[in-house]
Amino acid sequence: MTSFVVNGGRRLSGSLVCQGSKNSALPILAATYLVNGKSVIHNCPRLSDVESTIKILENLGCKVERRSNDLVVDSTSANGYEIPESLMREMRSSVIFLGAILAKTGKAVISAPGGCEIGLRPIDLHLFAMRKLGVTISEEHGRLECFVNKKLKGAKITLTFPSVGATENAILAAAVAEGTTTIINAAREPEIIDLCDFLNKCGARISGGGESIIVIDGVKKLSATEHTVICDRIAAATYLFAGAVTGGDVSVKNTVPAHLGGILPVLEEAGCTVSVRCDEIRLKAPLKLNRIDKLITQPYPGFPTDAQAPIMVLTTLARGTSVIVENIFETRFKHVPELLRMGAKIRTEGRVAVVDGVERLYGASVVSPDLRGGSALVLAALAANGITSVSEIKHIDRGYENFEKNLCMLNADIVRMTKNYANTKEK
Ligand code: EPU
Repeated sequence: MTSFVVNGGRRLSGSLVCQGSKNSALPILAATYLVNGKSVIHNCPRLSDVESTIKILENLGCKVERRSNDLVVDSTSANGYEIPESLMREMRSSVIFLGAILAKTGKAVISAPGGCEIGLRPIDLHLFAMRKLGVTISEEHGRLECFVNKKLKGAKITLTFPSVGATENAILAAAVAEGTTTIINAAREPEIIDLCDFLNKCGARISGGGESIIVIDGVKKLSATEHTVICDRIAAATYLFAGAVTGGDVSVKNTVPAHLGGILPVLEEAGCTVSVRCDEIRLKAPLKLNRIDKLITQPYPGFPTDAQAPIMVLTTLARGTSVIVENIFETRFKHVPELLRMGAKIRTEGRVAVVDGVERLYGASVVSPDLRGGSALVLAALAANGITSVSEIKHIDRGYENFEKNLCMLNADIVRMTKNYANTKEK
């Protein structure tokens, strides 16, 4: 079992460069299957989710080469249309390949995707969008067989919820459909804009990326290009939170500060001083954090659900009572029982968590429940008195590149251990 062992209580300070965005890299890599030729994707973080995506691309017949943080994907002779169940189970965003595969080959065979267990996470909106574009889908025992009737046809797709993945799938399929597609109530996340930018550079005609209405004029062919993935706004936020919970002074470089527009005001509400200079965000923590009155997770540009678990750690140490409402996923409070083991005072009722700030958190043995819940536990461990071991860190490795190295650069005392901490006397 691999764990992080953290000796808490050190004040974090210093600066680091933010990694490329996981949630941008994954759909862009799926798009490289659709475009013809050799795509070069810069700033692709080294994460297990990216490795799973590479396995899918190779399984579909692409040649993939990694050169440091650049990936070269050659889809020239690729024509696969089936993703094995074992690869589908590795992560939720395997489903993003559906639109790309259908657009390239006219058929697709996939199964229900895996990923963090943070709610039901159905794919009904993805299938709805595909059907609108002229795909026939049959579903049996979790296996989906999809084929395109003649040609993908542009359509008006009205999403009942601005799903990030469904918007991406619809964009990928519509990029080469016959005629015009309009996506209404599209997701507006920066990762959608990044995908549209990549596809437009490949010759697509997509307008409105980042807005609620996206219009796509289908083109006959897309040609490979070079692209640099945007900075990971959630990773950037996580390092700022690490500064906040340790009374620190942390700068994150190479960010797009506007992408953290839903997060920075909340940090200020908590009493942190936040300053922005070009692509650098600096956070100076107060001696004692203030409570956050009511924080509600929302689709972009609201406060992101992916930052809910990490910011909850701030509220556990704040003066007074904070309320957090998780609006996007049904069961994204799995970090709460683990935080309770560290001395936090949190009550949950459905999607609402009420957090009473405490003076201190204490080191304990905790289990990472999912990606963001896991990073939250590391933040709690950094702030806590004593030693914490966080196990099941495979979840954290899905989304944070060089997590412990970056934290060490900021003066944290954290090591990755491959044996059971309970059996060791010393780190
Ligand atoms: N939903 C449906 N039906 C669908 C699709 C989604 O009901 O067909 C529901 C989901 O169950 C959920 C909500 O809509 O309750 C939001 O889901 P969405 O489709 O927007 O999320 P996603 O595409 O599955 C991406 C990110 C998540 C992030 C969410 C919300 C990627 C690879 N994943 O997931 O990232 O939480 O958007 O912003 O882009 C993470 O990085 O830790 C992570 C989970």
